[in-house]
Amino acid sequence: MKEIKVGLLGFGTIGTGVVKVIQQNAEVISQRLGTKLTLAAIADRDITTDRGVVLEPGVLTDDADHVLTNPDIDVVIELIGGYEPARTFVLKALENGKHVVTANKALLALYGQELMLAAEKNNVSLLFEAAVGGGIPILSSIRENLCANQFSDVFGILNGTCNYILTRMTENGEDFSDVLADAQELGYAEADPTFDIEGIDTAHKLSILMTMCFGTWVDFDSIYTEGITRITALDIQYARQFGYQIKLLAIGKQEDGVVEARVHPTMIPDTYSLAEVRGVLNAVRLIGDFVGPVTQVGSGAGMDATASAVLGDVMSLSRQMLGESSFLPPALNYLTKNITTLPVRAM
Ligand code: HSE
Repeated sequence: MKEIKVGLLGFGTIGTGVVKVIQQNAEVISQRLGTKLTLAAIADRDITTDRGVVLEPGVLTDDADHVLTNPDIDVVIELIGGYEPARTFVLKALENGKHVVTANKALLALYGQELMLAAEKNNVSLLFEAAVGGGIPILSSIRENLCANQFSDVFGILNGTCNYILTRMTENGEDFSDVLADAQELGYAEADPTFDIEGIDTAHKLSILMTMCFGTWVDFDSIYTEGITRITALDIQYARQFGYQIKLLAIGKQEDGVVEARVHPTMIPDTYSLAEVRGVLNAVRLIGDFVGPVTQVGSGAGMDATASAVLGDVMSLSRQMLGESSFLPPALNYLTKNITTLPVRAM
């Protein structure tokens, strides 16, 4: 069966995570796809820093064209972040007939429509599960499992850095700036953490979610956006006294053909499940007309969880390319072909 070849643009924290998943889980990935998934090329401006992973000779390059114009590469993963050169590279990959997987929420929030049209025109796919909620499979749930519903509301905690900072300020009374430095160290924050703490990253993700849920493009500048930089230890103490947590919430609603979109710190009663969402966790809550409310919680940032979402998209595109039946879920195909009996642990 045809081998799937992948090219990576951007070898930072998440790019390194992607290499680790492909290497550590090579066997299970190839069993589930029924063929090998190979990382054929990685392009980054920095080709000297040791990322702690061993690559085949010749894989790492500082020339993006080695990924974009390589006729063997089926899927391009864009993990450069930001607007340029990411936008130019993604457009070039799509125009060259390659499927694209990206985690770039900023790019999608501002240029998503242009990129989707380019994908459609070139008869390829653009997937971006990792752009919202890190490892939470929320976009594929909206696109697949919940797609018979009309949605009225989508809201949640969408920035791991802010939730991590607010949690530590709440639980340990720590200072904002000390905790932000730790969030950067842990690989949660953006290259420019202003996007995190000013709520801009959350607004990017909200606009993507609203497009997916409501089928409408949301003018990014019209999203009311307020971050957490003005939240003090005293605000948190007062909120605690009254039984509330302060969380940075994204709120999107649709009613009678009008949408509402806002991002701001919000007092959440301790009794609400969103108040329980701590640290780097994110939570997304949707309300569909038939399914009712659905909440998903999971790691919202960081190398491993985000890489997991990227590989999920790559594998789903691979199955599409391999022409696997959409009626029998591929995981089930895998199980029927490779079924084993595991011992049950004695209780
Ligand atoms: N900086 C982002 C966050 C990364 O903290 O949520 C994941 O999108």
